Amino acid sequence: MTGNILKYLREKEYISGEVLAQKLGISRVAVWKQIQRLKDMGYEIIADQNLGYCLISRPDLLIPQEIQRGLSTNYIGKEIFYFPELKSTNIMAKEKALHRAGGIDEGTLIIAERQSAGKGRLGREWFSPVGGVWLSIILYPKLSPSYISRITLMTAVAVVKAIKICTQIESQIKWPNDILINEKKVCGILTEMSAELDIINWVVVGIGINVNIDHRDFPEDIQENTISLKEILGKEVLRVKLVQTFLQGFEKYYESLKRREFSSILKEWKLYSHTLGKKIKVDMGERIITGEAMDINESGTLILKKEDGELVEIISGTII
Ligand code: BTN
Repeated sequence: MTGNILKYLREKEYISGEVLAQKLGISRVAVWKQIQRLKDMGYEIIADQNLGYCLISRPDLLIPQEIQRGLSTNYIGKEIFYFPELKSTNIMAKEKALHRAGGIDEGTLIIAERQSAGKGRLGREWFSPVGGVWLSIILYPKLSPSYISRITLMTAVAVVKAIKICTQIESQIKWPNDILINEKKVCGILTEMSAELDIINWVVVGIGINVNIDHRDFPEDIQENTISLKEILGKEVLRVKLVQTFLQGFEKYYESLKRREFSSILKEWKLYSHTLGKKIKVDMGERIITGEAMDINESGTLILKKEDGELVEIISGTII
């Protein structure tokens, strides 16, 4: 309902309570209540006895109406589930992803203003206060499970591009899923999937971007290695615009991937890489390998050259 009222408020400078009530088929008291709700959400609306209501300013909330207004994607973000607070958008997305037959479509988005139990890779916690972008996208790609690392890589490219377009800030990708600015983490990506031997049932891509967060608000143990866009820019970033830009880029890259076209994405990934050419240590769970990061191949696999010259292909791991 608030969404419909907003639509009319945006159309005109002033609109009377009576006209709104007529258009929406509700009473004037109900209109007034919805206006109060919008004001509580941070919308600045003035009321003039003769002219009616006028929308003055909108808050930077990640509500579906705001994100979808002007979003030029075909299916990514066409359906958005929004929560002021949620344990984890990835957990919710995974639950929903199971219900494809029940109407959950490819591109459905779960987004929250804050997460109380945000998930990082390897079972780590992900600090997710108000001011960040915490979202998960549900996908049903007709691709083999081996494409999963390519999905993470293309997501990273879409994040770097969106940050650049919206803030002019250059960021870099630390293989496989961290986005860094000045060596500090600004974004993490958590890709999860359910698959059978040769088909993917669903993929959930979770993205967490530290946008308008103050450094002193980060927990002490991560303060040193973490940064937000606001800190770099010295002012707040419009999160709605950032999300829209990211979703548009994401859909473009995902479409290429579905056509099995990965080369151009890989080229861009390499351009933004923080990893290639560096001497790194990769924790692969059962062992740690040290060597020079030589390349990422067409399957999204990292090629590491060990000290003895042997080339090793690494599908997944964490640089330590
Ligand atoms: C990492 O770098 O460890 C990955 C962090 C991923 C965090 C995002 S925030 C939105 C989505 N929901 C979660 O619980 N996690 C991901």
